[in-house]
Amino acid sequence: MPRQIKIAPSILSADFSRLGAEIEAIEAAGADLIHIDVMDGHFVPNITIGPMVVKALRPHAKKPFDVHLMISPVDPYLDAFAEAGADGLTVHPEAGPHIHRTLQHIRKLGKKAGVVLNPGTPIEAIDNLMDLVDLILIMTVNPGFGGQSFIESQIGKIEAARKRIDATGRNIALEVDGGITPETARRAVAAGADTLVAGTAVFQGGPSRYAANIAALRT
Ligand code: DX5
Ligand code: ZN
Repeated sequence: MPRQIKIAPSILSADFSRLGAEIEAIEAAGADLIHIDVMDGHFVPNITIGPMVVKALRPHAKKPFDVHLMISPVDPYLDAFAEAGADGLTVHPEAGPHIHRTLQHIRKLGKKAGVVLNPGTPIEAIDNLMDLVDLILIMTVNPGFGGQSFIESQIGKIEAARKRIDATGRNIALEVDGGITPETARRAVAAGADTLVAGTAVFQGGPSRYAANIAALRT
């Protein structure tokens, strides 16, 4: 049976002056998750949004908030993002001294725990974490900005992650993030991805295009 593909628009590409309305528009257009990119200007060379904004956006959305934390240290902020309304918290192994402990803490907060691998981080980084994760995110660009090109070499890593997930028999989401277009989406899904993060490809053309843009990624 073909896998059910979920689309997670990254609000990094939304109009920041009207984020609440943008979230309502992408939900109406068929988004399955709302991907929120949190950047600190230290772990990645860009600064975006914090827990206060997540909290302000929560009433505008029905779908889960998929919060991608690109901040270091990450541990001191997990509780704040959980309280603000995150449903999943996804963390980079490089963002704290003890990724295993970080994931345990996310689980303790009752949230879905995700681990994310940068393009230069080997797949083996997840080998001792499989029992603690609900989501594995493979970065297909270097984190920090929207609108970058898909890094082809990550296809093999998506395949390797899919094998590891299937070996567990558990329902672990396999998400990809960066440079996703209808064309790269097809290749990522063929490699085993089931959740597609897309900023540019969803928001380009403005609200009247969102439904068509999301549909194009699904097919
Ligand atoms: C990059 C972010 C992505 C980004 C994707 O650091 O994690 O979520 O917004 O943007 P596009 O889809 O434009 O590559
Ligand atoms: Zn992201």
